[in-house]
Amino acid sequence: MIDLSTDYLGLKLKNPLVPSASPLSRNLDTALRLEDAGAAALVMYSLFEEELQAEDAMLDRFLLHADLGHGEADSFLPNHGEFHGGLERYLSHLHQLKRRLEIPVVASLNGVSPSGWVELGRALEQAGADALELNVYHIAADSRHSCEAVEARYIELLTELRGVVSLPIAMKLSPFFSSLPHFVQQLEHAGAQGVALFNRFYQPDIDLDNLIVVDQLHLSYPDEALLRIRWLSILHGRTQLTLAATGGVHSESEALKLLLVGADVVHLASCLLQYGPDKLTEILAAMQNWMEEKEYQSVAQMKGSMSQKNLADPAAMARASYLRVLDSFSVRPGVWS
Ligand SMILES: Cc1cc2nc3c(=O)[nH]c(=O)nc-3n(C[C@H](O)[C@H](O)[C@H](O)COP(=O)(O)O)c2cc1C
Repeated sequence: MIDLSTDYLGLKLKNPLVPSASPLSRNLDTALRLEDAGAAALVMYSLFEEELQAEDAMLDRFLLHADLGHGEADSFLPNHGEFHGGLERYLSHLHQLKRRLEIPVVASLNGVSPSGWVELGRALEQAGADALELNVYHIAADSRHSCEAVEARYIELLTELRGVVSLPIAMKLSPFFSSLPHFVQQLEHAGAQGVALFNRFYQPDIDLDNLIVVDQLHLSYPDEALLRIRWLSILHGRTQLTLAATGGVHSESEALKLLLVGADVVHLASCLLQYGPDKLTEILAAMQNWMEEKEYQSVAQMKGSMSQKNLADPAAMARASYLRVLDSFSVRPGVWS
């Protein structure tokens, strides 16, 4: 029997497959189906800074009563029946998920400005979250902001959150950092327990008929896992943080590759949105088949065995492979010559 268990954010998980933040967690029945399908934990959809900022009254009330005990989660839910804001809905849904699911539930905060809103993380802790994911979805578009200032924003938010919760915190990062290993080290020093790589930025498009900018959200493709494979491979063994891969996992192939390069867990969103919870069962079974065939006893044995540090040719994950690939490019079907 293969041991699929893994450690993530100090949590012992039965396997490495974790549905990441998406609308799937909004519905209790779907969450239960994901658990039945084999999900090892569940990351909730995000609670957005903008929703919270719009609820100043709620924020004031929460901060005023921030010294509430750690008793029944119901006790900190506002009594005011007339107020049904995003925070209240989120807390009550989290509470419900925690009551009905056996797997750990990771709550997610999403925002950019270090202005106290992350202190609401304490309410998520009190509602029973097993860990928090902090997604700083920031587009660095202001030419007055240096890269140090961009990084400082993440650190400041993390420090604020660390100051109010004792839960493990995972930082969900974008791929656009000049020196990712250095930045990850800073996050570790600031009190994170994990990183989730990488956020996908949704790209605005142009409608050529009407000459307007249109928002669009495309689901991911398996090729997107390649960016994660490179960076997880580089980070594995260079940080104490636990590592989550998010982006492009559509089959056992991407999941296995990400584990081989060092992911502790593999997140799934697009493929579950496309095919539903049964897809997770299918991926898990196919992973086990492959591991049996290759005679792996456990996920632990496999994890990081092909990270950059463990490769006979570490350059394969860095610049040298670029030169080699360009050099060896030859005409093939589908390429004009
Ligand atoms: C419809 C949709 C909603 C999402 N909502 C959130 C969210 O609320 N918070 C968040 O951090 N990520 C959110 N994500 C990002 C996913 O959690 C995931 O990181 C990303 O889609 C890459 O994984 P995938 O290739 O498996 O889809 C969302 C993605 C999709 C497709």
